[in-house]
Amino acid sequence: MVQKRTLGVDSPCRREGRTIQPNLRGFSSQGANKPFKKVIDVSSDDPHRTGMAPISFVRQVLAVCLYPELLEENTLPLDVRQRAKRLLGVCSGGSVGSYSTATSGLPLVKKSIADFIMKRDNGVSSHPENIIISDGSQKTLSLVLHLMASGTGVTQTGVLTPVPCPHTLPMLTDMSGVKLVPYQLKEEAGWTVELEELQQALATARGDCEPRAIYISNPGNPTGHVQDRKTMERVIRFAAAEGLVLLAEEVNQDSVYGQGKYFISYKKVLFEMGKKYAEKVELISLHSISSGPMGECGLRGGYMEVLNIDPAVCKYLRNIQLTSSPAVISQLALEVMVNPPTPGDLSYKTYARVTFIAERNCCSPHEFQMLGLQADVFYCQKLLEEEGVCLGAGCENGQDDQNHHIR
Ligand SMILES: Cc1ncc(COP(=O)(O)O)c(C=O)c1O
Repeated sequence: MVQKRTLGVDSPCRREGRTIQPNLRGFSSQGANKPFKKVIDVSSDDPHRTGMAPISFVRQVLAVCLYPELLEENTLPLDVRQRAKRLLGVCSGGSVGSYSTATSGLPLVKKSIADFIMKRDNGVSSHPENIIISDGSQKTLSLVLHLMASGTGVTQTGVLTPVPCPHTLPMLTDMSGVKLVPYQLKEEAGWTVELEELQQALATARGDCEPRAIYISNPGNPTGHVQDRKTMERVIRFAAAEGLVLLAEEVNQDSVYGQGKYFISYKKVLFEMGKKYAEKVELISLHSISSGPMGECGLRGGYMEVLNIDPAVCKYLRNIQLTSSPAVISQLALEVMVNPPTPGDLSYKTYARVTFIAERNCCSPHEFQMLGLQADVFYCQKLLEEEGVCLGAGCENGQDDQNHHIR
């Protein structure tokens, strides 16, 4: 029997990847027969889990912040120590061990983020008061979705969501109490967002729920597609016309591959479309330290920039963190991400940009179907069993066509 394609559910390969690993370490005999010593798990967007070395500048600065005695030693480069000193200077009591009293993030970190955004967007203004620092983009998204969630049945909040989508998203929408309204991305269209698909998804959803937002992943997870300006303008006009909040997840903005491809932020395009849109469309854009070249998923740091969002909602988003503001150390890591060493700095040469190439693989599904298997799941299982490499199968991201992919 052909396996049912599941969206957002932990896959057999991921589960197997996790169980094989400890077996190999001698906890049971199962791993003994495997032709590899270690599982490399590239299925989960967690580069450090695959064995990637941390970026030294980041860790050196954090090390000094955690152990300020290093400030007095010459073992670490001067610019590392200077940065750490500056960062410690904005922590209460000069220590990362103190509470972060500002609810939406340390002011210096928010200022660095706003400067980074302005530089990235060629001067489009960004204000620290519109930046809210959080514990990573998934938590931020979940917070926003919880806030938007209301009603049941036909009055339940709906969120337009691409398919294929990040494998964690259906669970996130589910847990937040909003209805996932799928819009299809098609491989033959280069995975671009098509207006007709959005319109069709919206029309189908109305009468079933109340669509209030559109979620965009750009560069796309898992497709890797980088949106062009024309497409983004269409999406913005659509959101404006339909009164939808634009949730732009831009965590992969540093992972752009392909000739002539470059990242443009939704914020920049929105501003350049003039006041009619720039002052109207509600935009929440997300970024985090997990998905960029740092890949520091475990530190849990991220931010959102909010535009045209009701001030009462912004206040709520800030205040909700009153009792548990993001960890100071992750905020400092965020500062380093948005403000890395530049040419001329001592650490610039060793500041290595680590990039990942998402490989895409196509194969004919027929022989796998004869075996009652999905080709992508089969391929992932084989790769795990024979080489110890744990990948995600495309069907986990909701892909439901005749092509098969690994991620
Ligand atoms: C949909 C989605 N967004 C963002 C991320 C990065 O999340 P975070 O910043 O919370 O670590 C992930 C990681 O799995 C993800 O699946």
